[in-house]
Amino acid sequence: MHAIAHYRNEFISYLELATKTKEPVNLYEPITYILGLGGKRLRPVLVLMATDIFGSDYKKAFDAALAIEIFHNFSLVHDDIMDDAPLRRGKATVHEKWDINTGILSGDAMLISAYQLFENYDGETFRALAKLFSKTALEVCEGQQYDVDFETRDDVILAEYLKMIEFKTAVLVAAALKMGGIVAGATVYEQDVLYEFGRNLGIAFQLQDDYLDAFGDPKTFGKQVGGDIIENKKTFLYLKALELGSTDQKNELFDLFSIQPQDPTHKISAIKHIFETTGACENTQQEIEKYTNKAFEVLNRLSISEEKKEVLRIFGKNLMSRKV
Ligand code: IPE
Ligand code: IPE
Ligand code: MG
Ligand code: MG
Ligand code: MG
Repeated sequence: MHAIAHYRNEFISYLELATKTKEPVNLYEPITYILGLGGKRLRPVLVLMATDIFGSDYKKAFDAALAIEIFHNFSLVHDDIMDDAPLRRGKATVHEKWDINTGILSGDAMLISAYQLFENYDGETFRALAKLFSKTALEVCEGQQYDVDFETRDDVILAEYLKMIEFKTAVLVAAALKMGGIVAGATVYEQDVLYEFGRNLGIAFQLQDDYLDAFGDPKTFGKQVGGDIIENKKTFLYLKALELGSTDQKNELFDLFSIQPQDPTHKISAIKHIFETTGACENTQQEIEKYTNKAFEVLNRLSISEEKKEVLRIFGKNLMSRKV
Protein backbone atom coordinates (compact mmCIF):
# COMPACT_ATOMS: atom_id res chain seq x y z
CA MET A 1 0.00 0.00 0.00
CA HIS A 2 1.03 3.58 -0.63
CA ALA A 3 0.01 6.80 1.12
CA ILE A 4 -3.28 8.32 -0.11
CA ALA A 5 -1.41 11.26 -1.70
CA HIS A 6 0.55 8.84 -3.89
CA TYR A 7 -2.60 7.45 -5.51
CA ARG A 8 -3.94 10.97 -6.00
CA ASN A 9 -0.75 12.21 -7.68
CA GLU A 10 -0.50 9.18 -9.91
CA PHE A 11 -4.13 9.58 -10.94
CA ILE A 12 -3.73 13.30 -11.70
CA SER A 13 -0.76 12.56 -13.98
CA TYR A 14 -2.84 9.96 -15.82
CA LEU A 15 -5.79 12.34 -16.13
CA GLU A 16 -3.60 15.13 -17.52
CA LEU A 17 -2.27 12.86 -20.26
CA ALA A 18 -5.76 11.65 -21.13
CA THR A 19 -7.62 14.97 -21.35
CA LYS A 20 -6.88 17.01 -24.45
CA THR A 21 -9.08 19.63 -26.06
CA LYS A 22 -9.93 18.71 -29.65
CA GLU A 23 -12.45 19.83 -32.30
CA PRO A 24 -15.13 21.02 -31.91
CA VAL A 25 -13.53 23.19 -29.24
CA ASN A 26 -16.90 24.35 -27.87
CA LEU A 27 -17.71 20.76 -26.95
CA TYR A 28 -14.35 19.71 -25.51
CA GLU A 29 -13.02 22.88 -23.89
CA PRO A 30 -15.63 22.90 -21.10
CA ILE A 31 -14.67 19.27 -20.39
CA THR A 32 -10.97 20.05 -20.05
CA TYR A 33 -11.97 23.07 -17.98
CA ILE A 34 -14.06 21.23 -15.40
CA LEU A 35 -11.69 18.26 -15.17
CA GLY A 36 -8.77 20.64 -14.76
CA LEU A 37 -10.37 22.59 -11.91
CA GLY A 38 -9.12 20.04 -9.45
CA GLY A 39 -11.36 18.78 -6.73
CA LYS A 40 -10.45 16.19 -4.15
CA ARG A 41 -10.30 13.23 -6.58
CA LEU A 42 -11.78 11.00 -3.88
CA ARG A 43 -13.50 8.48 -6.11
CA PRO A 44 -10.55 7.65 -8.41
CA VAL A 45 -8.29 7.39 -5.36
CA LEU A 46 -10.71 4.83 -3.91
CA VAL A 47 -10.66 2.80 -7.14
CA LEU A 48 -6.86 2.64 -7.11
CA MET A 49 -6.64 1.91 -3.39
CA ALA A 50 -9.18 -0.91 -3.60
CA THR A 51 -7.25 -2.49 -6.48
CA ASP A 52 -4.08 -2.40 -4.42
CA ILE A 53 -5.83 -3.75 -1.32
CA PHE A 54 -6.78 -6.91 -3.21
CA GLY A 55 -3.24 -7.51 -4.35
CA SER A 56 -3.31 -6.23 -7.91
CA ASP A 57 -1.29 -3.48 -9.59
CA TYR A 58 -3.25 -0.25 -9.10
CA LYS A 59 -2.08 0.96 -12.53
CA LYS A 60 -4.46 -1.58 -14.09
CA ALA A 61 -7.29 0.47 -12.61
CA PHE A 62 -6.36 3.85 -14.12
CA ASP A 63 -9.09 3.69 -16.79
CA ALA A 64 -11.77 2.63 -14.32
CA ALA A 65 -10.65 5.46 -12.03
CA LEU A 66 -10.74 7.94 -14.90
CA ALA A 67 -14.20 6.73 -15.91
CA ILE A 68 -15.58 7.39 -12.45
CA GLU A 69 -13.94 10.84 -12.17
CA ILE A 70 -15.29 11.84 -15.59
CA PHE A 71 -18.74 10.58 -14.62
CA HIS A 72 -18.55 12.48 -11.33
CA ASN A 73 -17.60 15.69 -13.15
CA PHE A 74 -20.38 15.14 -15.68
CA SER A 75 -22.84 14.86 -12.81
CA LEU A 76 -21.51 18.12 -11.35
CA VAL A 77 -21.89 20.02 -14.63
CA HIS A 78 -25.54 18.98 -14.86
CA ASP A 79 -26.08 19.35 -11.09
CA ASP A 80 -24.85 22.95 -11.24
CA ILE A 81 -27.40 23.71 -13.95
CA MET A 82 -30.16 22.09 -11.88
CA ASP A 83 -29.07 23.86 -8.67
CA ASP A 84 -28.46 27.19 -10.43
CA ALA A 85 -24.97 27.23 -8.92
CA PRO A 86 -22.55 29.98 -9.95
CA LEU A 87 -19.36 28.56 -8.43
CA ARG A 88 -17.54 25.24 -8.53
CA ARG A 89 -14.08 24.70 -7.02
CA GLY A 90 -13.69 28.45 -6.67
CA LYS A 91 -14.32 29.13 -10.37
CA ALA A 92 -17.34 29.83 -12.60
CA THR A 93 -19.51 26.78 -13.30
CA VAL A 94 -19.61 25.55 -16.91
CA HIS A 95 -23.09 26.93 -17.63
CA GLU A 96 -22.06 30.34 -16.21
CA LYS A 97 -18.79 30.52 -18.15
CA TRP A 98 -20.40 29.24 -21.36
CA ASP A 99 -24.17 28.64 -21.35
CA ILE A 100 -26.74 26.00 -20.41
CA ASN A 101 -26.69 24.25 -23.80
CA THR A 102 -22.93 23.88 -23.54
CA GLY A 103 -23.31 22.38 -20.07
CA ILE A 104 -25.87 19.89 -21.35
CA LEU A 105 -23.95 18.68 -24.39
CA SER A 106 -20.45 18.69 -22.89
CA GLY A 107 -21.94 16.81 -19.95
CA ASP A 108 -23.49 14.23 -22.29
CA ALA A 109 -20.15 13.75 -24.04
CA MET A 110 -18.47 13.20 -20.68
CA LEU A 111 -20.95 10.50 -19.71
CA ILE A 112 -20.28 8.70 -22.99
CA SER A 113 -16.49 9.08 -22.66
CA ALA A 114 -16.70 7.56 -19.20
CA TYR A 115 -18.42 4.46 -20.55
CA GLN A 116 -15.98 4.23 -23.44
CA LEU A 117 -13.07 3.76 -21.03
CA PHE A 118 -14.41 0.36 -19.98
CA GLU A 119 -13.67 -0.87 -23.52
CA ASN A 120 -10.04 -1.01 -22.41
CA TYR A 121 -10.87 -4.01 -20.19
CA ASP A 122 -11.35 -7.56 -21.40
CA GLY A 123 -14.34 -9.90 -21.24
CA GLU A 124 -15.53 -10.51 -17.73
CA THR A 125 -13.95 -7.39 -16.24
CA PHE A 126 -15.54 -5.20 -18.91
CA ARG A 127 -18.92 -6.77 -18.32
CA ALA A 128 -18.76 -6.47 -14.53
CA LEU A 129 -17.57 -2.85 -14.63
CA ALA A 130 -20.19 -1.78 -17.18
CA LYS A 131 -22.95 -3.55 -15.27
CA LEU A 132 -22.07 -1.91 -11.96
CA PHE A 133 -21.63 1.45 -13.63
CA SER A 134 -25.01 1.41 -15.41
CA LYS A 135 -26.82 0.48 -12.23
CA THR A 136 -24.98 3.16 -10.25
CA ALA A 137 -25.43 5.91 -12.85
CA LEU A 138 -29.17 5.27 -12.99
CA GLU A 139 -29.39 5.43 -9.19
CA VAL A 140 -27.55 8.77 -9.24
CA CYS A 141 -30.22 10.08 -11.64
CA GLU A 142 -32.94 8.79 -9.32
CA GLY A 143 -31.28 10.49 -6.33
CA GLN A 144 -30.97 13.73 -8.25
CA GLN A 145 -34.66 13.60 -9.18
CA TYR A 146 -35.67 13.09 -5.54
CA ASP A 147 -33.42 16.00 -4.54
CA VAL A 148 -35.22 18.28 -7.02
CA ASP A 149 -38.68 16.90 -6.13
CA PHE A 150 -38.02 17.62 -2.45
CA GLU A 151 -37.36 21.34 -3.12
CA THR A 152 -41.07 21.94 -3.57
CA ARG A 153 -42.33 19.51 -0.93
CA ASP A 154 -42.77 20.44 2.74
CA ASP A 155 -43.47 16.94 4.06
CA VAL A 156 -40.15 15.22 3.36
CA ILE A 157 -39.18 12.78 6.10
CA LEU A 158 -35.71 11.73 7.21
CA ALA A 159 -35.96 8.23 5.72
CA GLU A 160 -36.70 9.76 2.31
CA TYR A 161 -33.77 12.12 2.67
CA LEU A 162 -31.43 9.25 3.55
CA LYS A 163 -32.53 7.30 0.50
CA MET A 164 -32.05 10.40 -1.65
CA ILE A 165 -28.45 10.97 -0.53
CA GLU A 166 -27.66 7.28 -0.70
CA PHE A 167 -28.61 7.40 -4.37
CA LYS A 168 -27.29 10.78 -5.46
CA THR A 169 -23.94 10.44 -3.66
CA ALA A 170 -23.18 7.31 -1.64
CA VAL A 171 -23.62 4.66 -4.34
CA LEU A 172 -20.92 6.27 -6.49
CA VAL A 173 -18.44 6.23 -3.62
CA ALA A 174 -19.38 2.61 -2.98
CA ALA A 175 -19.09 1.72 -6.67
CA ALA A 176 -15.61 3.28 -6.83
CA LEU A 177 -14.38 0.79 -4.25
CA LYS A 178 -16.19 -2.13 -5.82
CA MET A 179 -14.70 -1.28 -9.21
CA GLY A 180 -11.24 -1.59 -7.70
CA GLY A 181 -12.30 -4.99 -6.37
CA ILE A 182 -13.50 -6.02 -9.83
CA VAL A 183 -10.27 -4.96 -11.55
CA ALA A 184 -8.26 -6.84 -8.92
CA GLY A 185 -10.39 -9.97 -9.25
CA ALA A 186 -11.51 -9.96 -5.61
CA THR A 187 -14.30 -12.33 -4.60
CA VAL A 188 -17.88 -11.11 -4.83
CA TYR A 189 -18.05 -11.21 -1.02
CA GLU A 190 -15.01 -8.93 -0.74
CA GLN A 191 -16.41 -6.59 -3.39
CA ASP A 192 -19.71 -6.35 -1.55
CA VAL A 193 -18.10 -5.64 1.83
CA LEU A 194 -16.05 -2.85 0.29
CA TYR A 195 -19.22 -1.51 -1.36
CA GLU A 196 -20.94 -1.42 2.02
CA PHE A 197 -17.98 0.41 3.56
CA GLY A 198 -18.22 2.98 0.74
CA ARG A 199 -21.98 3.33 1.03
CA ASN A 200 -21.75 4.31 4.69
CA LEU A 201 -18.80 6.58 4.09
CA GLY A 202 -20.71 8.17 1.20
CA ILE A 203 -23.69 8.93 3.41
CA ALA A 204 -21.37 10.58 5.96
CA PHE A 205 -19.79 12.46 3.08
CA GLN A 206 -23.09 13.93 1.85
CA LEU A 207 -24.13 14.89 5.39
CA GLN A 208 -20.86 16.80 5.65
CA ASP A 209 -21.51 18.34 2.22
CA ASP A 210 -24.88 19.63 3.50
CA TYR A 211 -23.21 21.01 6.61
CA LEU A 212 -20.45 22.79 4.69
CA ASP A 213 -22.95 24.23 2.21
CA ALA A 214 -24.35 26.31 5.08
CA PHE A 215 -21.36 26.68 7.39
CA GLY A 216 -18.31 26.45 5.12
CA ASP A 217 -15.88 29.35 4.87
CA PRO A 218 -16.74 31.32 1.70
CA LYS A 219 -13.03 32.08 1.19
CA THR A 220 -12.03 28.44 0.88
CA PHE A 221 -15.21 26.42 0.28
CA GLY A 222 -15.23 26.86 -3.51
CA LYS A 223 -19.03 26.77 -3.85
CA GLN A 224 -21.66 29.39 -3.07
CA VAL A 225 -22.20 29.23 0.70
CA GLY A 226 -25.92 29.05 1.42
CA GLY A 227 -26.73 27.63 -2.04
CA ASP A 228 -28.87 24.84 -0.55
CA ILE A 229 -30.83 27.38 1.51
CA ILE A 230 -31.46 29.58 -1.53
CA GLU A 231 -32.77 26.52 -3.41
CA ASN A 232 -34.91 25.33 -0.45
CA LYS A 233 -33.06 22.02 -0.33
CA LYS A 234 -34.39 19.55 2.20
CA THR A 235 -31.04 18.84 3.82
CA PHE A 236 -30.29 16.97 7.02
CA LEU A 237 -29.84 20.31 8.80
CA TYR A 238 -33.30 21.43 7.73
CA LEU A 239 -35.07 18.18 8.63
CA LYS A 240 -33.34 17.98 12.02
CA ALA A 241 -34.16 21.60 12.80
CA LEU A 242 -37.83 20.83 12.14
CA GLU A 243 -37.63 17.78 14.37
CA LEU A 244 -35.80 19.44 17.26
CA GLY A 245 -37.09 23.03 17.06
CA SER A 246 -39.83 24.71 19.08
CA THR A 247 -43.14 25.51 17.38
CA ASP A 248 -41.97 29.08 16.79
CA GLN A 249 -38.71 27.94 15.25
CA LYS A 250 -40.50 25.45 13.01
CA ASN A 251 -42.95 28.07 11.80
CA GLU A 252 -40.16 30.51 11.11
CA LEU A 253 -38.28 27.85 9.15
CA PHE A 254 -41.38 26.98 7.12
CA ASP A 255 -41.95 30.68 6.38
CA LEU A 256 -38.35 31.28 5.36
CA PHE A 257 -38.42 28.25 3.07
CA SER A 258 -41.51 29.59 1.32
CA ILE A 259 -39.90 32.86 0.16
CA GLN A 260 -37.47 33.52 -2.70
CA PRO A 261 -36.03 36.98 -1.92
CA GLN A 262 -33.99 38.91 -4.52
CA ASP A 263 -31.25 39.31 -1.93
CA PRO A 264 -31.01 36.07 0.08
CA THR A 265 -28.58 37.42 2.73
CA HIS A 266 -31.17 37.69 5.48
CA LYS A 267 -32.84 34.39 4.63
CA ILE A 268 -29.49 32.58 4.82
CA SER A 269 -28.41 34.11 8.14
CA ALA A 270 -31.82 33.60 9.78
CA ILE A 271 -31.92 29.94 8.72
CA LYS A 272 -28.35 29.29 9.83
CA HIS A 273 -29.28 30.75 13.21
CA ILE A 274 -32.17 28.28 13.46
CA PHE A 275 -29.87 25.40 12.46
CA GLU A 276 -27.54 26.39 15.31
CA THR A 277 -30.07 27.11 18.06
CA THR A 278 -32.19 24.01 17.48
CA GLY A 279 -29.17 21.76 17.86
CA ALA A 280 -29.44 20.60 14.23
CA CYS A 281 -25.78 21.50 13.64
CA GLU A 282 -24.52 19.40 16.51
CA ASN A 283 -26.82 16.57 15.52
CA THR A 284 -25.46 16.61 11.98
CA GLN A 285 -21.91 16.31 13.27
CA GLN A 286 -22.94 13.33 15.39
CA GLU A 287 -24.62 11.69 12.43
CA ILE A 288 -21.49 12.15 10.29
CA GLU A 289 -19.49 10.38 12.98
CA LYS A 290 -22.11 7.66 13.29
CA TYR A 291 -22.01 6.76 9.61
CA THR A 292 -18.22 6.98 9.49
CA ASN A 293 -17.99 4.56 12.42
CA LYS A 294 -20.53 2.28 10.74
CA ALA A 295 -18.23 2.21 7.73
CA PHE A 296 -15.27 1.32 9.94
CA GLU A 297 -17.22 -1.54 11.55
CA VAL A 298 -17.90 -3.01 8.13
CA LEU A 299 -14.14 -3.34 7.64
CA ASN A 300 -14.06 -6.01 10.37
CA ARG A 301 -15.69 -8.38 7.89
CA LEU A 302 -12.67 -8.25 5.59
CA SER A 303 -9.64 -10.49 6.06
CA ILE A 304 -7.09 -8.01 4.77
CA SER A 305 -4.07 -6.78 6.73
CA GLU A 306 -4.48 -4.27 9.54
CA GLU A 307 -2.21 -1.90 7.60
CA LYS A 308 -4.62 -1.84 4.66
CA LYS A 309 -7.63 -1.28 6.89
CA GLU A 310 -5.79 1.59 8.52
CA VAL A 311 -5.31 3.35 5.16
CA LEU A 312 -9.09 3.13 4.61
CA ARG A 313 -9.73 4.46 8.11
CA ILE A 314 -7.37 7.38 7.55
CA PHE A 315 -9.25 8.12 4.34
CA GLY A 316 -12.55 8.16 6.27
CA LYS A 317 -11.20 10.33 9.07
CA ASN A 318 -9.77 12.83 6.58
CA LEU A 319 -13.23 13.17 5.05
CA MET A 320 -14.75 14.00 8.43
CA SER A 321 -12.36 16.87 9.06
CA ARG A 322 -12.53 18.32 5.56
CA LYS A 323 -13.42 21.97 4.99
CA VAL A 324 -13.93 21.70 1.20
C1 IPE B 1 -19.38 17.08 -4.75
O1 IPE B 1 -18.44 16.07 -4.70
C2 IPE B 1 -20.72 16.49 -5.02
C3 IPE B 1 -21.21 15.63 -3.94
C4 IPE B 1 -21.54 14.41 -4.17
C5 IPE B 1 -21.36 16.15 -2.63
P1 IPE B 1 -16.96 16.34 -4.19
O2 IPE B 1 -16.98 17.11 -2.91
O3 IPE B 1 -16.22 15.06 -4.20
O4 IPE B 1 -16.40 17.30 -5.32
P2 IPE B 1 -14.91 17.55 -5.80
O5 IPE B 1 -14.69 16.63 -6.96
O6 IPE B 1 -13.96 17.30 -4.67
O7 IPE B 1 -14.90 19.00 -6.25
C1 IPE C 1 -24.65 16.53 -5.76
O1 IPE C 1 -25.28 16.95 -4.63
C2 IPE C 1 -24.84 15.12 -6.12
C3 IPE C 1 -24.47 14.91 -7.53
C4 IPE C 1 -23.77 15.74 -8.26
C5 IPE C 1 -24.90 13.70 -8.17
P1 IPE C 1 -25.10 18.50 -4.33
O2 IPE C 1 -25.91 19.33 -5.24
O3 IPE C 1 -25.24 18.71 -2.87
O4 IPE C 1 -23.55 18.70 -4.71
P2 IPE C 1 -22.80 20.09 -4.64
O5 IPE C 1 -22.97 20.62 -3.26
O6 IPE C 1 -23.41 20.96 -5.68
O7 IPE C 1 -21.36 19.75 -4.92
MG1 MG D 1 -25.33 21.10 -6.29
MG1 MG E 1 -27.70 19.07 -6.31
MG1 MG F 1 -24.10 20.09 -1.74
